[in-house]
Amino acid sequence: MLDIKYPILCGGMQWVSRAEFVAAVCNAGCMGFITAESLERPEDLRDEIRKARTLTEKPFGINLSMVPEFGKPERTLQFCDIICEEGIKVVETAGRSPEPLMEKLKKGDVKIIHKLTTVRHAEKAQRLGVDAVTILGWGSGGHIGTDNIASFIKIPLAVKNLDIPVIAGGGVATGAGFLAALAMGAEAVLMGTAFFVTNEAPVHPDIKQKFIQASENDTTLVMNTIHNPMRVLKNRLSEDVLALEAKGATLEQVVAEMSGSKCKTAYKSGDIEISPHVCGQVVGLIDEVKPVKKLIDEIISDAEVLMKRLNNMS
Ligand SMILES: Cc1cc2nc3c(=O)[nH]c(=O)nc-3n(C[C@H](O)[C@H](O)[C@H](O)COP(=O)(O)O)c2cc1C
Repeated sequence: MLDIKYPILCGGMQWVSRAEFVAAVCNAGCMGFITAESLERPEDLRDEIRKARTLTEKPFGINLSMVPEFGKPERTLQFCDIICEEGIKVVETAGRSPEPLMEKLKKGDVKIIHKLTTVRHAEKAQRLGVDAVTILGWGSGGHIGTDNIASFIKIPLAVKNLDIPVIAGGGVATGAGFLAALAMGAEAVLMGTAFFVTNEAPVHPDIKQKFIQASENDTTLVMNTIHNPMRVLKNRLSEDVLALEAKGATLEQVVAEMSGSKCKTAYKSGDIEISPHVCGQVVGLIDEVKPVKKLIDEIISDAEVLMKRLNNMS
């Protein structure tokens, strides 16, 4: 469906998923998504797409995040126009129903992979006509929804209830996780944190080192009080946000504190404490910064070894 070598997707990551990084992901045999919300003006997306095409011949997609922190509906529709004009064939939508975008994208023959967190919403997305869904587990980095259900439950359930392909999102960084997701019936996996800790991610090395040192216990959920929990790395900023929430802060106050532009500054300076850092529990499995290609090659070769073990067991 996506014309990729390995069924591995790199979820869009604001500021990180720029042309160079996405090209590295695609050149390693996976699919990456340029995050439209990293760009100042919708027209900048055109330049970013053209730049990526000079760096890879492989297909890539665009991430359209519609979470409350970004997501101005007119801006997202302008991005859709550029996506269609530039002949992009796949988008990752997230944060809100893709319904308002569907007509434009379908006309442009663009496949829609909607990223969400519940089987119920996945069924609704299928009825709307999306081409595939990515279902994020509770341990994933980023917006994980409010159902608190693990992938081990959601993925087989979604595979059973849906006709469209199901992608297992989050919690994967190794061949074991990859193979487990496929065994549960997922057509592919989607990773974020594991790709973030690669050489090619345009992020200060000190931040990547903090991720390497972090264990599975070092993430926390902020924005619970505004019913939009987000899994981030524990740091000073996350403590401040939790304290603000405990004092009954309004949605506007919480969202302002979580501003994505702080990340942009942190990725340059290397100061981990000043911004929210989306991070999955899978960070506990990551102990080395490596090139994207090595990450993927190791996942595939480890999965092959595990397959042999399973075959021997049977
Ligand atoms: C640093 C970082 C930034 C992210 N930014 C976005 C974003 O802008 N839009 C989005 O849809 N998802 C974003 N995500 C979520 C990922 O696309 C993906 O859904 C998630 O990381 C998967 O869980 P995992 O981290 O356990 O692999 C981000 C993830 C990370 C690690």
